[in-house]
Amino acid sequence: MNDNFYITTPIYYVNAKPHLGHAYTTIVADVINRFYNMKGYDTFFLTGTDEHGDKVVKSALKENLGIKAYVDYISDLFKQLWPTLSIGYDRFIRTTETGHKAFVKDILQKIYDSGDIYFSEYEGLYCYGCERFYTERELINGNCPDHNTAPERIKESNYFFKMSRYQDWWIQYIHEHPDIIRPERYKNEVLSFLKDPLEDLCISRPKSRLKWGITLPFDNNYVTYVWFDALLNYISALGYPDGELFKQFWPVANHIVAKDILKPHGIYWPIILKAAGIPIYKHLNVHGYWNIDQSKMSKTVGNVVDPLAMKNIYGTDAFRYFVIREMVFGLDADFNEPAMILRINSDLANDLGNLFSRTITMVHKYCQGIVPTPPHFIENNEDFKPYVLSAINDYMSNMEIFAFHKAHIAIWELISHMNKYIDITAPWELAKQKKSTDTLHQVLYNLLEGLRIISCLIFPVMPETYVKMSSHLGQSTDIPNMTEYLTWGKIKPGTQLLKSISLFPRIEAKPHSKEDKSSIETRQTLKPEISFETFQKIDFRVGVITHAETIRKSKKLLKLTVDIGETRSIAAGLSTHYKPEDLIGKQVVVVANLKPAKLMGVLSQGMVLAAVNDNETCIIGPDKLMAPGTSIQ
Ligand code: MSP
Repeated sequence: MNDNFYITTPIYYVNAKPHLGHAYTTIVADVINRFYNMKGYDTFFLTGTDEHGDKVVKSALKENLGIKAYVDYISDLFKQLWPTLSIGYDRFIRTTETGHKAFVKDILQKIYDSGDIYFSEYEGLYCYGCERFYTERELINGNCPDHNTAPERIKESNYFFKMSRYQDWWIQYIHEHPDIIRPERYKNEVLSFLKDPLEDLCISRPKSRLKWGITLPFDNNYVTYVWFDALLNYISALGYPDGELFKQFWPVANHIVAKDILKPHGIYWPIILKAAGIPIYKHLNVHGYWNIDQSKMSKTVGNVVDPLAMKNIYGTDAFRYFVIREMVFGLDADFNEPAMILRINSDLANDLGNLFSRTITMVHKYCQGIVPTPPHFIENNEDFKPYVLSAINDYMSNMEIFAFHKAHIAIWELISHMNKYIDITAPWELAKQKKSTDTLHQVLYNLLEGLRIISCLIFPVMPETYVKMSSHLGQSTDIPNMTEYLTWGKIKPGTQLLKSISLFPRIEAKPHSKEDKSSIETRQTLKPEISFETFQKIDFRVGVITHAETIRKSKKLLKLTVDIGETRSIAAGLSTHYKPEDLIGKQVVVVANLKPAKLMGVLSQGMVLAAVNDNETCIIGPDKLMAPGTSIQ
């Protein structure tokens, strides 16, 4: 039987569109989920949206939409966004689902029956933004610490959950399970909250004030507090108490949240679980906050980062890599595009991209693209193999404890060692002398084996790059089985490699500021319309560029050889923005039935499509690898 792993994100409020913060947490969940998939675990990945409460009602009103229409719309934005960032969740839960609502009522009734919920009058300071009461001590200069607005004093009769009863039990539980809340600083923060007596939690809202919620099963005049409803998503999605998913995955539950919601997850949630007689989660993993250019991300300031725009400009894998590598899990981090461009160009294009293309190109040059047989497989490999094994160890131990940045530093140390290894062993010199053939083969074999292992290590963060690397190395592109993949010596001599490609094009453009965005958005004049029949006459095909060279007489044109199921020679105006070697292996869209013409003495049998404006030329290709010749409709 396989081991199990259960990962959850917070369910996000539907009062605003998804932004960088939501994307980060959900990418982390996807990364760790893929990591356990590679380890051969059965995994379950839950995300979703939190759709009740005051905030949502206010946002719907502001948008002039009915509440249901509004929550459907925003929830769908989250749901649709995740796959475009290569996030593969197993279940997307919405708190407005009928099943979830019935479940929340059952649990409330259970806790009520056991005597942990009571009715009482309460007067306190209420922050509408946070949807909770604050004590005087929690306020900063009389204001809510999160919203910086003065809370309102309100007095009402409500239902309360006896949290205080479980305070000592929870303190002791944390001491007995010292890594339950990690990193440690957040465990300490929770313990420090618990030094003061816990107040009981107000878990109802009168319907006179809020109707958009789940009615209490024991009092029709009240709806439940949004946090009580939301936290229960983690087990309602698994079908507690009898669901197979609950039995399999709840014992290995790992929550991921940011520090803003530490208190509900580090105090309310375990106490609700205890009161309902349900075992506690295994780990609460808490990360810091993304700031933008040193300041808080906020709609009012207008600095909210749209993950979809980042992915469209820089690519999914590059965006995922940046956020995972840049943030030390647990601490705050700063997001800015120049830093992202720097990382893409140095870590991805220079270090990994160059290592990959140099190695593959050398194997083609010196061994006809075939993995050579290493002469002394195991022995005499001390300048290489130990580095690979130590990188694997470092990577594994850091991934296990959510230290993603360190895990990736370990991979990049290996990449840097391999780049130096090429410079030191100088395969181009070895290739000149017959007596050095064995050493040449050993060096190239080592490099290919290192790349195969790296492709597996980067899979959780850069799944598309894993597919590109694996297919070029003649390996399967299925989810790598880690035990198999990380064993030395698995690349078979005799394997045919594909021609080299550039994994990550260098980014030359300046970051997209507001000003140049307007120029991007400026429409060029549209051409006159054509009929559908005319459009259908154009035969668009997927092509792969297999060769590219400059044309002596032309400043703009490159001569390309493109495989579209048959070989075509095409002259394309790309030389101002692409070097010939950067184009090799790129997938493009080709107009295959354009009348052949001679351009600057070169026969051109088709056209390669590109997006062109005054500053940029950018070739257009399919989103995934497709077979050359595939028709585009
Ligand atoms: N609905 C509640 C969660 C209920 S879970 C049972 C909620 N929703 S939220 O939309 O406000 O999402 C908060 C979460 O979004 C944070 O905990 C974090 O995961 C993510 N982030 C939102 N802004 C963020 C940053 N600026 N930086 C990093 N992550 C942040 O709270």
